[in-house]
Amino acid sequence: MSRTGTPSASASDTAGETLSAARLKVGYIRPLVLLLSIAALLAALWAGLLRLGWDLPALQPELYSAHGPLMVCGFLGTLISIERSVALGKGWSYTSPILCGVGAFALIAGVGSSIGAALITLGSLGLVVNFGAIIRRQAALFTVTMALGAVAWLVGNCLWLAGIPVIRMFFWWTGFLVLTIVGERLELSRLTGLGDGNRLPFIGSTGLFLIGLAIALPVPALGLRMAGLGMLAMALWLLRYDLARRTVRQKTLTRYIAVNLLAGYFWLGVGGLGWLWFGDNLTTFHYDLMLHTVFLGFVFSMIFAHAPIIFPSVTGRAVSYSPVFYLHSVLLHLSLLLRAASDLSGSYTGYRWGGLLNVIAILLFVISTGRAIAREAARSRGFTLGTVVHGVSR
Ligand code: HEM
Repeated sequence: MSRTGTPSASASDTAGETLSAARLKVGYIRPLVLLLSIAALLAALWAGLLRLGWDLPALQPELYSAHGPLMVCGFLGTLISIERSVALGKGWSYTSPILCGVGAFALIAGVGSSIGAALITLGSLGLVVNFGAIIRRQAALFTVTMALGAVAWLVGNCLWLAGIPVIRMFFWWTGFLVLTIVGERLELSRLTGLGDGNRLPFIGSTGLFLIGLAIALPVPALGLRMAGLGMLAMALWLLRYDLARRTVRQKTLTRYIAVNLLAGYFWLGVGGLGWLWFGDNLTTFHYDLMLHTVFLGFVFSMIFAHAPIIFPSVTGRAVSYSPVFYLHSVLLHLSLLLRAASDLSGSYTGYRWGGLLNVIAILLFVISTGRAIAREAARSRGFTLGTVVHGVSR
């Protein structure tokens, strides 16, 4: 700083260098954390197949029971945290995804599930703090909805860390994913002018869902049913007001996104009905239906729909659309229909095959998204090279 109080050239140079060094570090963190979350997804899929009874190597003794934590926290929690840190744009906010990513790694490596749970719980606390900053910047219905999702995740993680079995707290993790995604829909789709007429039913259904979550631990029969009714109401609300009903008549990527959104809302409604119907009667088949209609049908449909929009913002690389995307989408829904029908009829064979096909659908999604990113990168490289060659030849 000069005596006049204006920054001297060398001080501003140093500040600029520090800033670009910080950006460089954050630039390295993003792909690393993203890789950890994809590793968590792959490990969770393997563990899912073990849980279905497919005869596969166990890899490590704790992997079998880490399926749910790896899916919800290791994969989705890390992904959602990094997305929020990118949106916030502050170096310190990356503490949350880093903790979640390292926690996911601890779960995959089997170095003691409580270490993984502790790191992930701290990471979810970090996400709540990040949302505090986001709400200070923009207090809106969508930011508050997503922040409530982060709080639900923190509550679920504290119960998990305290040793409560997943079957007694899974609804808090469900709350995390449902509220985060519904909040993102409000943000991304610019729903047709939210007025009092449609805002109130949304707040009512979300409120019902939250009250259900809050009482599901002490009074599961009532709490799970109320949460189910809330999900059903949210699904109907989304089907009624989301622009997807209109954009489904358009073409290419816009239609693909709309098809996945509408399919996702359908599954959220089916899940809500399942929770309403079965309540706390959590037999293997009921539990499977209540979990996976929401987690696979709703959550993964939304991931399929949002991937071409969200991946570029997180990775800095565009995803080029291809009609091949429908392959993983159709396979996911057909295999989930098989799995849900088998859950209802008590067919163990259909449940196992439905689950295996779910895994294949997700793997196809990972492969086709990776290929679309590579294609787009090659195209932009080709464009640059072409421009240079053209420039030289002139
Ligand atoms: C992709 C294919 C998947 C397969 C094959 C699969 C398989 C399974 C199986 C067989 C169970 C045991 C059900 C029971 O005990 O009654 C289970 C539980 C669970 N799954 Fe999945 N699942 C898949 C996807 C997902 C996804 C996408 C999520 C979350 C986003 C998820 C989260 C959970 C959770 C939280 C549990 C409860 C775990 C527990 O009680 O310890 N699953 N899964």
